Amino acid sequence: MSFFGKKKNKVSKITPDLLPKHIGIIMDGNGRWAKKRGLPRSAGHTAGAKTFRKITRYCSDIGIKYLTVYAFSTENWRRPSDEVAALMKLFKSYLEEALSDFKDDSIVVRFIGDKSGFDDNLRQLMTENEQSSKNRNGMVLNIAMNYGSRDEIVRAVKSICSKAEKGEIKISEIDDNTISEHLYTAGQPDPDLIIRPSGEYRISNFLLWQSAYTEFVIMDKLWPDFQTSDLDEALNIYSNRNRRYGGI
Ligand code: IPE
Ligand code: IPE
Ligand code: MG
Repeated sequence: MSFFGKKKNKVSKITPDLLPKHIGIIMDGNGRWAKKRGLPRSAGHTAGAKTFRKITRYCSDIGIKYLTVYAFSTENWRRPSDEVAALMKLFKSYLEEALSDFKDDSIVVRFIGDKSGFDDNLRQLMTENEQSSKNRNGMVLNIAMNYGSRDEIVRAVKSICSKAEKGEIKISEIDDNTISEHLYTAGQPDPDLIIRPSGEYRISNFLLWQSAYTEFVIMDKLWPDFQTSDLDEALNIYSNRNRRYGGI
């Protein structure tokens, strides 16, 4: 069994040209899931991590090219220290498992966010996972950890300004593309679809720049309860949307 679960060759019911190329998922609702069961919030995160494996595998199987999952935001450090500690422990055990048990996968793993917020051990595991998967040719999985879109944009602005100061970039030539190319997602297409389980109608600092023309699907299911059939439902809703990009 690989890191992302048993391989099955799934075929989506949606015709390939109506499938999103890039899906973003705000993996929300772990805490409420645990509360409903009288369990500690950390149990919700453990259950949510299982859903993450299942949905990642499914997205890869049905031919999604890019998947970005929001795992930990720059604001999530505000949570009680025992919850943050439980999440760090969970991330470590997952990444260790990923390294040893993930060799036969085609998925390219990338971390988006500020790695410097994590301890040496976790940072090392993140780098090793990126290095060992970078030459694969399958779906790109961006795991957003210590990610905040405002922080990402501030970094991009600083980097562009410093290049301008050194004369490497002309201010008059800065355009949309310049900004995109200085974000963590540089070189990747913008998300076509962002799914938020748990029924919250907000973006919570996720892919602000990149989601200018993204289709949003909010679903009531809590993330640990989220099934591949819920993903199918979101894909179906997406395939019936009319994307106009300001045109008619
Ligand atoms: C998402 O679930 C996981 C993280 C933010 C790390 P939550 O922990 O936010 O769950 P709820 O929203 O409290 O139910
Ligand atoms: C967004 O969920 C972040 C992740 C899922 C990692 P939050 O639970 O932190 O968002 P808010 O606080 O409800 O906006
Ligand atoms: Mg939440």
